[in-house]
Amino acid sequence: MEKFYVTTPIYYVNDAPHVGHAYTTVIADALARWHRLLGDDVFFLTGTDEHGDKILRAAKKNNFDPQDWVDLTAQRFVSAWRELNISYDYFIRTTQEKHVQTVKKFLSKIYENGYIELGKYAGYYCVGCESYKDESEIVDGKCPDHLTPLEWLEEENYFFKLSMFRDKLLQWYEESPQAIQPEYRRNEVVSFVLRGLKDISITRTSTTWGVRVPWDDRHVFYVWYDALVNYLTAIGYLDDPHFSSWWQNVCHLLAKDIIRFHCIWWPAMCMAAGIDPPHKLFIHGHLLIGGKRVSKTRIQQGQEITITKISPIDLANEFGADAVRYYLLREIPLGSDGEFSYENIIRRYNDDLANDLGNLLQRVTTLIVNKLNGIVPEALSECQLKDQALDAIEVAKRSWEGFALNQALEAALELVRKTNAYLESKEPWKLKDTEILKDVLGTACEALRIATVLLYPAIPDSAEKIYERLNINSFVGNHSELKWGLYASQQIQKTDPLFPRKK
Ligand code: MSP
Repeated sequence: MEKFYVTTPIYYVNDAPHVGHAYTTVIADALARWHRLLGDDVFFLTGTDEHGDKILRAAKKNNFDPQDWVDLTAQRFVSAWRELNISYDYFIRTTQEKHVQTVKKFLSKIYENGYIELGKYAGYYCVGCESYKDESEIVDGKCPDHLTPLEWLEEENYFFKLSMFRDKLLQWYEESPQAIQPEYRRNEVVSFVLRGLKDISITRTSTTWGVRVPWDDRHVFYVWYDALVNYLTAIGYLDDPHFSSWWQNVCHLLAKDIIRFHCIWWPAMCMAAGIDPPHKLFIHGHLLIGGKRVSKTRIQQGQEITITKISPIDLANEFGADAVRYYLLREIPLGSDGEFSYENIIRRYNDDLANDLGNLLQRVTTLIVNKLNGIVPEALSECQLKDQALDAIEVAKRSWEGFALNQALEAALELVRKTNAYLESKEPWKLKDTEILKDVLGTACEALRIATVLLYPAIPDSAEKIYERLNINSFVGNHSELKWGLYASQQIQKTDPLFPRKK
């Protein structure tokens, strides 16, 4: 049994979750479900990033005590993920004591190893990004991402000696070409590192809302270096003997906005603490609305506005969790940016789920009920549709492995379409010979079942309902389901369409 440890970034709790957060979380969930289906031992981590000035200011602005604010907002993420059927194994919060202790232990280790020292820092800071901005990045005195004015900060800080890791990082990128994907993102990271790395300030004295530096309690750790450590907390860096076996199989998912933190800073810190850099990082693109990223806070005419903020809970209520999940996974090739639109959620749902899958389910079950007293016949053991189903399984396996999630789902849909075409060519509604009729419907039903299993990571609730309609009790998310000719003879009933068309 292989181990698969998948993580999302931990999201800031300055505000409620939006569909951009849902995007990464749904991808991670689908990957986790796929690996469980393969029989892997899976640990899926998500959670919330609760320290730093951005959160403290949000709490103050809303007249909340900071801890009450983060408790409330973290709960909004938990609720959103419940609505979207997210099967995380652990929800981490950086204000948890276990995390605070892990941060202290991990950063103390780096300090003891001689990679952290005291220094002075002065520079322009963006609270939205929670990071200092290089002169070259500043546009008209503002943050290029948030378009907000920057603040000048001068502090005595502890510095992580990132500059000492240039060669070690380059060697790691070279020796582990698969570690950062897609490849063009890896190349971007390599060129950045080749230009040279500066030491980075990792503590603050200007705020108290963070983890205290264990060797100097005037300082708290800068929120990013507290946050990244969450990936270690959850798998027991403090004291769990299984820690290494999970860490060796980690897969971090993130969008391109936080690539440097994850692909440069984080691996260097792991090396400095004496553990391996992360096994795999996959960087996806941004969901956009009208070409702009969902959802950034910007200042317009002195007012802070959040553009294009769409709540995952509203989406799930309006369209159903599976329609939203399917759209997010099927519509945009993983890695590219993509325009988000309500019209396309409906189009994808109607075309693929209502027309193709729903129609096949309805046809097969109705014919079996009407013509064979509801008893599911056996599938042919050798036929073209079986070969096509086995091909679809192979394509899906390769595609999930290569993070081509849209292609994995397309392989399932292709099988659905071929099964519909098979029915059209065999015309079982006209067949008089019961034996032939049984072969055709048994075969179509089995192809439908395989397609359902392949779609399960994207539409878990509907996939389980299809299994119920086929009167198969075994859980659909079981890897042994990906074989031909598993079920026959069970009794099924007539039912309403599972995917009524949406307008
Ligand atoms: N708290 C940090 C992450 C620390 S991880 C150790 C942070 N939080 S965030 O709330 O801003 O989340 C950023 C992440 O949310 C992105 O990297 C991405 O995974 C997801 N997304 C946020 N907006 C998104 C889009 N518009 N499109 C795609 N993903 C988006 O950064």
